[in-house]
Amino acid sequence: MPELQAPLRAAALCLDDFEGLAAEVLPAAVREFVSGGSGSETTLRLNRSALESVTVTPRVLSGVAEADLSCKLVGGAVGMPVVVAPMAYQRLVHPEGELLLARAAAAAGIPYVISTLSSYPLEDIAESAPSWFQLYWLRDRAVVESLVDRAEAAGCGALMVTVDVPVMGRRLRDVRNAFALPSDVVAANLVGARSEAHVGVPGLSAVAAHTASAFEPAVSWRDLEWLRSRTRLPLLLKGILDPRDAVRAVQIGADGIVVSNHGGRQLDGAVASINALPPIVDAVGKECDVLLDSGIRGGTDVLRALALGASGVLVGRPLLWALAIDACGEALDLLRKELADAMLLAGCANVAAAARLTTGRA
Ligand code: FNR
Repeated sequence: MPELQAPLRAAALCLDDFEGLAAEVLPAAVREFVSGGSGSETTLRLNRSALESVTVTPRVLSGVAEADLSCKLVGGAVGMPVVVAPMAYQRLVHPEGELLLARAAAAAGIPYVISTLSSYPLEDIAESAPSWFQLYWLRDRAVVESLVDRAEAAGCGALMVTVDVPVMGRRLRDVRNAFALPSDVVAANLVGARSEAHVGVPGLSAVAAHTASAFEPAVSWRDLEWLRSRTRLPLLLKGILDPRDAVRAVQIGADGIVVSNHGGRQLDGAVASINALPPIVDAVGKECDVLLDSGIRGGTDVLRALALGASGVLVGRPLLWALAIDACGEALDLLRKELADAMLLAGCANVAAAARLTTGRA
């Protein structure tokens, strides 16, 4: 993989800049797998336009020179209200994949979420950084149980069950590219890690074919109740957009939810995550942590989410673009600086103050 020179890395002045830098080193099909959404990518675009339409009314004369970004997420202390989103197959973009991004997260004092479909074993990643584990509900219950056991044994700090993938959204870029995994990138946590995901078929996405055969489409609240009784780890449900589902999540004992449309990769036409956030905060914000992802591209977006009541955010694609050029630390430093500046400009001494800001729509 070509290495970018330091000055080129330094050329990133905002998280979006990493997309162009990554494009210089990534094969086109990998670039599209990372950046693309489902269907006509309406929701992918809506995530950004909805975030950009949120206005925040700054306060002044707060008397602080530097905002305190530290806070707690599902009971654990974090350096800023940001989590690295679970993302599959990170060796696609860099040979050290998950290990490199997880170490950068640890250096930034934030949790790294290991995907069920990580390309290094979850134990190796958890050893290199404080991690949470993301669970996809697989058809084989024994495999689900063993993944939960392994996450606990590896010291993962929380379990995040992704509930918006009964099937994979139809991602046309991957279909057009007949996208399949190269042979050296495997789902390292699964036995028989080689799968349909490696078999390129014209007119098909091989990763979608793998999802169809491995994931349980009929997973239900009953399964989640069973899981709750099966583990003591803090439990988060990722992919909730309706307050009724948020209420149900709290009823089954979830410690947190992630308001997410999977970065516009699942139901095309789904509501923008940021627009789904306020009613969910109203419904369950006092009872559990409410995190948000999909479209966060900078410190201002984090502030917008906090002002609308989020406990914190997950960031996805920008960190994969940064990983592609071995610049995860730079990307997280940039995000921290942007958030610190945004907080100061909005007169917020700390994360709690951000929740008291007045918001509106442009
Ligand atoms: C994802 N996402 C995801 N989510 C999940 O729960 N398990 C997974 O394995 C993956 N894999 C994955 C791969 C890639 C390449 C992307 C881009 C995304 C979704 C991810 O966790 C998150 O919800 C979105 O990426 C958030 O949107 P942004 O920040 O990318 O706009």
